[in-house]
Amino acid sequence: MKEESEKYLEVLKRQFLCGYPLHCIDWEGIPTDLTWDQQKLFVENTVLNSLNKQYPLKISYQLNFLKRLLQYLEKSYDEVHDIVYESFCAVQTLVAKDATEKYAYKHYLQPALDVTLTMRESKSFVAEGTTGLCSWQASIALADYLVQNSDIVNNKCILELGAGTGLCGMILLQCCDVRHILLTDGSMECIELMKENVCRNFKGIVELCSGEYEFKGRWLNLKQLQWDAIDKMKWPNNNRTDIILAADVVYDDTVFEALTYAIDFVFKLRKDKCEMLLAATVRNEYTLQKFLNMILALKFLVVEKDVIPLDKCNFYWDRTTPVKIFHITRNS
Ligand SMILES: C[S@@+](CC[C@H](N)C(=O)[O-])C[C@H]1O[C@@H](n2cnc3c(N)ncnc32)[C@H](O)[C@@H]1O
Repeated sequence: MKEESEKYLEVLKRQFLCGYPLHCIDWEGIPTDLTWDQQKLFVENTVLNSLNKQYPLKISYQLNFLKRLLQYLEKSYDEVHDIVYESFCAVQTLVAKDATEKYAYKHYLQPALDVTLTMRESKSFVAEGTTGLCSWQASIALADYLVQNSDIVNNKCILELGAGTGLCGMILLQCCDVRHILLTDGSMECIELMKENVCRNFKGIVELCSGEYEFKGRWLNLKQLQWDAIDKMKWPNNNRTDIILAADVVYDDTVFEALTYAIDFVFKLRKDKCEMLLAATVRNEYTLQKFLNMILALKFLVVEKDVIPLDKCNFYWDRTTPVKIFHITRNS
């Protein structure tokens, strides 16, 4: 296969496996000079990929992906490989059963960093009273920003607020030299899902006690934490927070008081010797600004950072709605 086709296929494989929205895929870029066997490779690397066979993505996503693939192949080729049609029919037979499934898998791959994370996630944006059972684009944008600016997190103790599935922290644990990660969320369902995803993805991880792990000399804690009850949290012995992380937690202004309380609490605990990185999906400028005003009123300094552009990203996320990353500090 020519180098360009190989590159396209590698990107398509990674985009498919993480459930990248179909409208974000560069379908027009499908090479128009594929041989018969190369067409087959497109299906073997995506829908028939062993990761998807073992831990399947949402069936409706797979079906729509194949529909689009067929549409574009049919545009450029007189004959489309049987395997595309056969796979489409095979996936179609799974639609009815899948309708009753609440969860599906997504695979976040970056071969250059030796990362493969297979996450079980909710198929709905809101489930069990939380928005945290699926991974949001801000957490991927934040993880990639930190992976590509790893000095910020290397050898540091990290506290994540509203960690949801824990994807951001798990990427950092695989890619960076963090010392300790404490992933928290107000929802116990999120903590249980994090535990399951941690066990699947970190071979050789040692569970010291429930929700407390050691992995290659680094520490990971998963803990339920409501922001307004942070003063009552029992801190793990070895976490003296250097960095607070939070992704997609500023969409609902009814929680801003609790969130700013938690942030202020940790900064006070650390005598302002810590910093925060916040990734926000800008669904509503006014809501975001309201949160930033509350932070500024507490004498924090806020500096916006550049998100990693699409052509330099390690992980794919839907950029239809912009994500902003803020660096928050306070001088004592
Ligand atoms: C949109 S999700 C983001 C999850 C994750 N950070 C991500 O980007 O994928 C917001 C998360 O904040 C958590 N959350 C909301 N209000 C909270 C509160 N008062 N205390 C703790 N967690 C809260 C939710 O349970 C949910 O997991």
